[in-house]
Amino acid sequence: MKEIAERVLNKVTDIPKDSLYALRTRGLPEAIRILARETRSLFFNNVELVILACSLEGPIKVPEPRIPIRIRQGRPEDTNPLGDIVSPSYRRHYRRLFAREGSFCFVAIHQAEIIAFCWASTYVDPELHRARLQLEPWEAYPHDAYTAAEYRRMGVQSALIAHRNTWLRDQGYKRIIALVRTDNTASLTMLHKLGYQEVGRLRRQRILLWHRFYQRTTAGSTSRGSAPLSPPREQGGNGSSQVEYTPET
Ligand SMILES: CC(C)(COP(=O)(O)OP(=O)(O)OC[C@H]1O[C@@H](n2cnc3c(N)ncnc32)[C@H](O)[C@@H]1OP(=O)(O)O)[C@@H](O)C(=O)NCCC(=O)NCCS
Repeated sequence: MKEIAERVLNKVTDIPKDSLYALRTRGLPEAIRILARETRSLFFNNVELVILACSLEGPIKVPEPRIPIRIRQGRPEDTNPLGDIVSPSYRRHYRRLFAREGSFCFVAIHQAEIIAFCWASTYVDPELHRARLQLEPWEAYPHDAYTAAEYRRMGVQSALIAHRNTWLRDQGYKRIIALVRTDNTASLTMLHKLGYQEVGRLRRQRILLWHRFYQRTTAGSTSRGSAPLSPPREQGGNGSSQVEYTPET
């Protein structure tokens, strides 16, 4: 009960903070849109998501970004730099993810600043990820991919995702299962380009604190695939991972 009250209180206090953040960073129309959407979502939410799968077996193509970037694994102390490009409520969300074993963050740095990040988890927590999905032990769940607005369409997120997927593959994971809102054209286009395929749809509905999840498989799609040859390697999550990209021209 205390936890539910805390969640509702957090949500109510986040709305003005997130709206002010949107006003500062993206202007009045966006702030009004966020205020309306978040206020409505206090009472009701209805979202359709595409379930995408991508095999990690075989070569992973690493696209060259169009600006020089350095990629490394994210750290809890990055929450503040991340906070510069995301809203206050997301900052708290990332702190909770950093505190939880089995969640990994990857960041892209350009001119000493974090300009993009993406996450992957080895579990799906309905409360933390707002999704209900059964993962096989060899599957990982990518989430929270974000590129700062002024660095979009430069291949940054594609390079970051390819790096994260290579790292997951090196840990022994065989497949990625992602959820993307049906209206997120940017993300869907990018993931299709990177070889992800739709394997189903999921509807998430919430009325006040009551959540419902519906899942259906896309007609004609294959199942999520075969069992792995070996389970993921044991890892504590601190495996360092870093790479630098400098475009040739
Ligand atoms: C989705 C997002 C992460 C993409 O990041 P990005 O760094 O711009 O991605 P890339 O530059 O690597 O894009 C790769 C390809 O994806 C496609 N793409 C990216 N943004 C697109 C858009 N707005 N519309 C259509 N296609 C898009 C393009 O095919 C692009 O290749 P191209 O630029 O050569 O045509 C970014 O738009 C974002 O942060 N959006 C807000 C947060 C979000 O929706 N996150 C996803 C949650 S699942």
